[in-house]
Amino acid sequence: MTLAPRILILGANGQLGTELQRSFADAGEVIARARETVDLSHPDQLRAVVRQTAPQLILNAAAYTAVDRAESEPDLARAINAHAPAVLAEEALRANALFFHYSTDYVFDGSKTTPWLETDAPHPLNIYGQTKLEGEQAIQQIGGRAFVFRTSWVYGPHGKNFLLTMLRLGSDRKQLRVVDDQIGSPTSSIQLAEATRRVADRILSGVTPAESAGVYHMTCSGSTSWCGFARAIFQQAERVLHMPAPEVIPIPTTEFPTPARRPAYSVLDCEELFQNFGVRLAPWQSALEDAIARLVL
Ligand SMILES: NC(=O)c1ccc[n+]([C@@H]2O[C@H](COP(=O)([O-])OP(=O)(O)OC[C@H]3O[C@@H](n4cnc5c(N)ncnc54)[C@H](OP(=O)(O)O)[C@@H]3O)[C@@H](O)[C@H]2O)c1
Repeated sequence: MTLAPRILILGANGQLGTELQRSFADAGEVIARARETVDLSHPDQLRAVVRQTAPQLILNAAAYTAVDRAESEPDLARAINAHAPAVLAEEALRANALFFHYSTDYVFDGSKTTPWLETDAPHPLNIYGQTKLEGEQAIQQIGGRAFVFRTSWVYGPHGKNFLLTMLRLGSDRKQLRVVDDQIGSPTSSIQLAEATRRVADRILSGVTPAESAGVYHMTCSGSTSWCGFARAIFQQAERVLHMPAPEVIPIPTTEFPTPARRPAYSVLDCEELFQNFGVRLAPWQSALEDAIARLVL
């Protein structure tokens, strides 16, 4: 067991980075770095921070997450989502550190109608998904004690996300039109960070061997459409935040065109995570309740 490991968190100001800092606060010596001090598009900065801090665990919560903008900035998206994780994997291997990285449901094309398995063939529909897949593949190729957690529809009390956007729009509109033909699993940053901590504890304490490195799906359980998610948000917001709920009108994707194509069905099967680490995230509805409750604290 590594007592008080040094833990380097990159992307510290993002939704997940913020929650990872909270979940790992008592796990060891946490070194949190945001873009201002470590820019992932500069490999020299990445190598330097890993060598200077000599962490036992690297948590990479930084990513180029602007799915639509990535269509017109593929080089920058690739530098951050594919090249930077490769540098981190190399540095982790060199230092024999554990490396945790996150990927996305958008590596899949949405053509299935049952939850996607880790063994299903990826086929991204957009540049963001393509660059995230390239990041996964580079990490796998480099090897070492590297874990990739694919997650989906991340939201939480901080940052830019669907929950906060809906609450903002819903507070000054009586009606909202929301896409109803894309199905996925909303996953709270709180659940994601807590699950990451449980996985890290299992590996650092030797309960699960680091040889179980690989790609795992890590989302809240259950699924819904963006429209279903929006309705649940307003139901909870009415109850907890006393906010009058707007009418949510379901629309097809064709009525909400975006630069990036998105998969119609991107629910991930998370059984491997449970089998290997005994970790299961909460159902998306109760995770949403927790996240909204956090907004009033
Ligand atoms: N959000 C989702 O719906 C979703 C879905 C599936 C998978 N994921 C994956 O989950 C992980 C966490 O995502 P998230 O939702 O927490 O994303 P997020 O809130 O957008 O946070 C990403 C962080 O990365 C930082 N970043 C971007 N470019 C950088 C650069 N060049 N150098 C250093 N930092 C940089 C951002 O910094 P600034 O704050 O300065 O911009 C931001 O703090 C990512 O791997 C993402 O791909 C997310």
